[in-house]
Amino acid sequence: MILDVSRVRAAYPALSDGYAYLDGAAGTQVPAKVIEAIADAYRSGIGNAGGAFPASGRADGIVAECRRALADLTGADPQGVILGPNMTTLTYRLADTLSRRWGPGDEVVVSRLDHDANIRPWVQAAARSGATVRWAEVDISTAELPAAQYDDLLSERTRLVAVTAASNIVGTRPDVAAIAAAAHSVGALCYVDGVHATPHVPVDVRSLGADFYATSAYKWSGPHIGTVVADPALLETLHPDKLAPAPVGVPGRFERGTAAFADLAGVVAAVEHLAALGSSPPSAPRPDTRRQRVLASMTAVEQYEGQLFTRLVGGLARMRHVTLYGNAARRAPTAFFTVTGYTPRQVAERLAAGKINVWNGDNYAWELTGAFGLRESGGGVRAGIVHYNDQAEVERLLAAVAELAPDGVR
Ligand SMILES: Cc1ncc(COP(=O)(O)O)c(C=O)c1O
Repeated sequence: MILDVSRVRAAYPALSDGYAYLDGAAGTQVPAKVIEAIADAYRSGIGNAGGAFPASGRADGIVAECRRALADLTGADPQGVILGPNMTTLTYRLADTLSRRWGPGDEVVVSRLDHDANIRPWVQAAARSGATVRWAEVDISTAELPAAQYDDLLSERTRLVAVTAASNIVGTRPDVAAIAAAAHSVGALCYVDGVHATPHVPVDVRSLGADFYATSAYKWSGPHIGTVVADPALLETLHPDKLAPAPVGVPGRFERGTAAFADLAGVVAAVEHLAALGSSPPSAPRPDTRRQRVLASMTAVEQYEGQLFTRLVGGLARMRHVTLYGNAARRAPTAFFTVTGYTPRQVAERLAAGKINVWNGDNYAWELTGAFGLRESGGGVRAGIVHYNDQAEVERLLAAVAELAPDGVR
């Protein structure tokens, strides 16, 4: 399978505005089919869930279909798909629920590589319950998170290991399967932040060994909806706070209030979009199921993005006025750098003036930017590739950053 980027770009109305959207790590643009699915849900009439009339039935149908779509995206069981507004909210909810089992002497392990949304909820829950927090450290020269350190970090008192499947600033993809296996060997649960990995690679929660896997649809061409997937049997053992009349079953008891039904229809369309990104020659056999199509398509995405990323980091690495952070062996296509003589904000402003969108700051990778020593100086510049970016946009970014070289230093 290959990815035909001009066909892909044509699906996104927003991409016609002349900007190079290299800010996808903070949130992607949305294809017309997702916009239409959301509008169609409203147009056709939707009531609240659980009622006796057809518009309510449509809401129930959307929720069920959304769980199936997210299960196909991640390899999970639809009955273990918890829906919510975003990853941060759901992670706080699960940290609150899981930490009721923790007490003094128990331990949780977080990593310095992670987005703060997979650190602070656990640190704060540990503080409330009296549990101890242990930190997995990043090798700053490479931004690798060595899995071997978990042997020393884990003990029979470890209750939970929280780790990211990919760093949202340097792209590092740690060996989650090894870390989860180590966690399981001492009886701990593994909570995996898949927000940055999911848009870039095929995901299979079972082979990762993730007991919980979180992702947010707005990072992969969908609306602002988050999900955490888990084994329904594990969810059956957990009892979050809930309203008295709210669902008692799984996964409904983890979901608070009324769902954003129309947006959930958009999530289904976004999964369909991902499943259709790769194109095969007409003679090639077509995968049977949506799950198979997602896996084949995301393999093509990974390969396509990897080629652009090689050019991006190769070009930046050659510029003497640019300092690049991270060089892990397995990476999502996300670059983090500083430019001599400019604050990250100034770089982002100069690029924005040339219609190039990049992020500046800590990007909520609070611990990692601190470990890099960049927190006080405004963090760094983040340029990320997603499947709708093309070679011309990468060249525009490289040319614009090259322009920032002091005379003769480039
Ligand atoms: C790796 C990672 N984890 C977690 C989050 C938080 O996700 P949400 O905005 O859905 O709460 C983000 C958002 O940028 C992220 O990049």
